Formats: sequence, C-alpha cells, structure tokens
Amino acid sequence: MDPLLAGDLADLPGLLQTTRDHAVRLLDDLEERAVARTPAAVRPATLPARGIGAAGALESFGERWAPGFSASAGPRYLGFVTGGATPAALAGDWITATLDQNGSNRSGSSAAALEDETVGWLRTMFNLGPAFDGAFVSGATMSNMVGLAIGREWLGEQLGVQVSQEGIAALGPITVLSGTPHSSIVKALAMLGIGRSSLRSVPTLPDREAVDVAALAAALDDLGGRPAIVVANAGTVNTVDFDDLRAIAALRSRYPFWLHTDAAFGAFAALSPTYAHLVDGLDESDSVCVDLHKWLNVPYDSAVQFTRRRDLQIRVFQNTAAYLGDPGPNPDHVHLTPENSRRLRALAAWFTLAAYGSAGHREIVERDIQAAHQLGARLAALPGVRLLSPVRLNVCCFTFPGDIQAAVRSIADAGDAFLTPTVYRGEPALRAAFSNWRTTPADVDRVVETLREHLR
Ligand SMILES: Cc1ncc(COP(=O)(O)O)c(C=O)c1O
Repeated sequence: MDPLLAGDLADLPGLLQTTRDHAVRLLDDLEERAVARTPAAVRPATLPARGIGAAGALESFGERWAPGFSASAGPRYLGFVTGGATPAALAGDWITATLDQNGSNRSGSSAAALEDETVGWLRTMFNLGPAFDGAFVSGATMSNMVGLAIGREWLGEQLGVQVSQEGIAALGPITVLSGTPHSSIVKALAMLGIGRSSLRSVPTLPDREAVDVAALAAALDDLGGRPAIVVANAGTVNTVDFDDLRAIAALRSRYPFWLHTDAAFGAFAALSPTYAHLVDGLDESDSVCVDLHKWLNVPYDSAVQFTRRRDLQIRVFQNTAAYLGDPGPNPDHVHLTPENSRRLRALAAWFTLAAYGSAGHREIVERDIQAAHQLGARLAALPGVRLLSPVRLNVCCFTFPGDIQAAVRSIADAGDAFLTPTVYRGEPALRAAFSNWRTTPADVDRVVETLREHLR
C-alpha cells in the first residue's frame, strides 16, 4: 500500500475528527461568511506525483480553495432555488459516503429497500397515490428527462411502435405543449432526441405564467387526435405561478396526451394547508418531477421522479445483462434511471424525514414563504423598486431603474446576500428565492438593508 494511504488508514479516526472539526468551523461561520463574493482567481497547481496525505489535502483545500467557496448553504443565499442541508440531512450524507453502497441493485444490502421506504414517505408528503412509483435521480433536470422519456415511450404505445426498441424516428413528428416550462424541459427534449423545436409554447393567462387551459385545449384540438406530451408547470422560477393541474388533467377525456408535471420545488406547497391548493391535481399527472436538494434541504444530487407507468419506465431504462439480472416484479434501480451504479442519495432524505417528519418540513416551507412575503412587502416600500408579480409562494421577482447586473455584483461583493438576475416579460429583473431551512425574519431585515444600499 502507498505509505501515505497506509498512514491515513492507520490514523483514520484522527483524520475524521480533524475533518469534523474543519466542518464545524465552516458551519459556525456560515451565517457571517460572505454569502457569494466574486472569488479571487486561484493559481493553478499541477497534479502531484507524490501526494500530501488526507490531512495535507484538507490543509491545502483550506488555504487555496475554501476562501472562494460561497455560503450557499446559508440563510441569505437567495439565488436560483437553493436549499441548504438540515443537520440530519448532513449526517445522512456523511453516512452515505461512509457506507458507500451502490444503490443500483437489491443484492446483499438493504440500501434499495431504504430507497423504497423514502420514496413512499415522499409520496405521502406530496399526496401522490399508491399508483405512483418513484426513484431517486440526481436533480430536477434528470427527473424531467426521465419523465419525458417515459412519455416518449407512451407516445410509441399509442402509435403502435416501441421507441426504446425502434428509435425516435419511428414516431414521426412529436408535439410537446407547455405554458412556461423550465429550461431543463427544453434541455431534456434535446437529450431525448425529441428536439427543442418540438416544444410548442401555449399562451398563458393575462399577466400570469400559468397556462391558459382553453388555449391548451385549442392546441390539442389542432393535433387532430395525434397523441402529444403536455408539460404542466407547478412553480415557475420567476413568479412561482402554477398551472391549473386538475383542469389540464381533465382535458385527457377529450385528447390523448402524456401529462408530465414539473413540480421541482412547487410540490412543497402541498405541505402547507394554506398553499396546498396550488398543487391540487398533482396526483393526476402521469409523471412528476420533485427536487429534493431545493426545499427538502438535502445536499446536492437529489431529486425524485414519480410515474404511474413503471412498465414503460423499465422498457426505456432496463439494463439487462447476465450479471445484472432481469427487472422482474421488484426491479433493481439499475433498470429505472439513466445511471448504472448510483449513490444511495435516498439516505440523506431518509435522515431528514425521520428526524423532523412532515411537520418539521412544513415549518421550514411556511417560514420561507413568510420570509418571501415579508421581503415583498418591504421591497414595495423601497424607492423605485417595482414587484413584477405578486409574491405567490417563496420568490420575489422585482425590478428597479438601475443596472441589474451591476446591482447583482455589488450586492454579492458586499457579502450579506446573493440574488440572481433574470428577465421577466422582456424586463431585466432580480429574483430572491427562499428555500433554506435557516432563514429567519432577521435575515430578511439584513437583505432589505443591503438592497437599500445597492439598488441605485
Ligand atoms: C421548476 C424547475 N425545474 C427544474 C429545475 C432544474 O433543477 P436542477 O438544477 O436540480 O436540475 C429547476 C431549478 O431551479 C426548477 O426551478
């Protein structure tokens, strides 16, 4: 054994203790560290022939790289839709790496059964019925891609071809209809060979990002009975608008379509009795995307893809080889998602759900929604600032007369908050998205102070 490796093995408990102390220091100053300052460039280093051991690597990381890492796990990182990691999720993630199970199969470990239990808990949390099966994937983009891949197979079923066998060309032209899809839907269409230009944009309701269901019905009518894919959006990134899921699902009695719902973060509205109506009808979808590294606050690399048609999912993703076995009635995960070997990412989710339950996660969701409303009310009182939509859930989308890009940079470099720029209906704007478990009303006060200073 390499002597450095042997030394680390001999001192493994000490090394883990040092790493733990380092992690504790990182977490201790998470709330005070600059949230996402523009990092200084790091001088490149060449690949070492002889290493410096794990303790040396930790020290080198601490000196060269750690200063440039954002406090994105903290309470005032309001960019994109970014959660942190609850204490239990973090513990679960450490154990995941420690056990290093391959979640691809059911042989010799309870890992896959734990994933099944976690999926079952999440299904309950999002009010999806027993007809839904689920599997963990790496994020919402992958969840959308898997859902659309199953939809593509369903189109084949309607048209008497097996796409997974014959290829996409056997399908002929494909139509995908949606109001305000996330960009990951468009990317998924490209990855699946369906093509970005297969997406037909359906008009939305006036001053809304939610699809106009009558316009959707008209677009389906135009297809003359040819089956299609409809992507419903339950939580748009700019204004967190929700399609009327039940009304869309009802159109299936008149038109043949696969209904995929992107509820990456919007699904969490189901946890709050006040907001659950926004996702009413989610359980009528054929496939559903829910992201967990957003509002469940587990570390990155975690989302779930739910579907009612596991049979079609297996047709697409089965990875049959003598050494992997056939899918059978309780298929290994190797037959359900794009990966072969896969991290047991369910464990971090299992930990946080076991630790805090649905009530604990409901509290996080409701506190974040309150924070967004609190910020919205305060923004409306700032001179020149204009909200571009009502605060519907956890995002404030607003503009002001100055240079948005310059404001984003100066807010970030001041170190108290991070927001992302966007364009909403042609207007440059800013988004503040709340999805972190640590955020409090005092954080909103700090965000308002920094915005007051930098929105000029
Ligand atoms: C509605 C929606 N769908 C999909 C995604 C893509 O998520 P991921 O980055 O996990 O792939 C996002 C990310 O913000 C989102 O908001």
